[in-house]
Amino acid sequence: MRFEGKVAIVTGGARGMGASHARGLAAEGARVAICDLLDDEGEALAAELPQARYCHLDVTGETRWQSVVRAVEDTLGPVDVLVNNAGIIHRGSVEEQSPEHFRQILDVNLVGAFLGMHTVLPGMCERGHGAVVNVSSATGMAGFAGSVGYVPRVNSVHPGVIRTPMGEAASPDLFAHQPVPRIGEPEEVTRMVLFLASDDASYTTGGEFLIDGGQTIGHRAARRTPARPL
Ligand SMILES: NC(=O)c1ccc[n+]([C@@H]2O[C@H](COP(=O)([O-])OP(=O)(O)OC[C@H]3O[C@@H](n4cnc5c(N)ncnc54)[C@H](O)[C@@H]3O)[C@@H](O)[C@H]2O)c1
Repeated sequence: MRFEGKVAIVTGGARGMGASHARGLAAEGARVAICDLLDDEGEALAAELPQARYCHLDVTGETRWQSVVRAVEDTLGPVDVLVNNAGIIHRGSVEEQSPEHFRQILDVNLVGAFLGMHTVLPGMCERGHGAVVNVSSATGMAGFAGSVGYVPRVNSVHPGVIRTPMGEAASPDLFAHQPVPRIGEPEEVTRMVLFLASDDASYTTGGEFLIDGGQTIGHRAARRTPARPL
């Protein structure tokens, strides 16, 4: 019984995988708050589980998050586990998807998960323990053709610290220990942008391109080892 005496919130818990997670947590002793928009399904599941309650929650609403967590803490106890599971999908390519649907997906799948963490983390930190599980998708690790809001995948440029008003505010510590130990110049990023925008990139798509002086490789060794002959 790994969750004996613990309190868990499961968003999107009224049906699907969220309902399964709620059942699994309850079976191992947790007092579960099932949070969803689907009141009938949520209430029915809560009635089926021991020490569970249903809370109507639209995960995109900051104020509602605050009042739901307060209500859960008053009735079930401090929150030990948050499963950010609520999610939606609207299929459509970049041309097909309406901006409204795109925003809705980001609002539920991304902002909703952020708001959940934003609301429960202060209490978890104060108590010195807690666990957050954010449910994403296998497609998040690859791409999902025809569902641009759910998993966008395009050529993207990933600059390290670059000499601009934003980059100059960064501490030199950020680049001092990278393999190319200096700040980058805007023109070094421009060369990649022009390449990707040109016909030279005719066989390049959905890729992630670093221009970071090796920032992501990790710290430069204190003493250089001799270069390997080619
Ligand atoms: N089913 C799959 O094949 C699959 C694959 C990969 C990832 N996922 C992800 O897993 C999670 C669960 O998916 P599922 O298949 O159980 O989906 P589902 O549609 O069966 O359940 C999603 C639940 O989220 C709730 N929800 C939607 N918007 C909400 C909001 N604004 N506030 C609160 N609740 C909201 C819905 O009412 C529903 O109960 C989602 O995040 C989904 O993106 C699903």
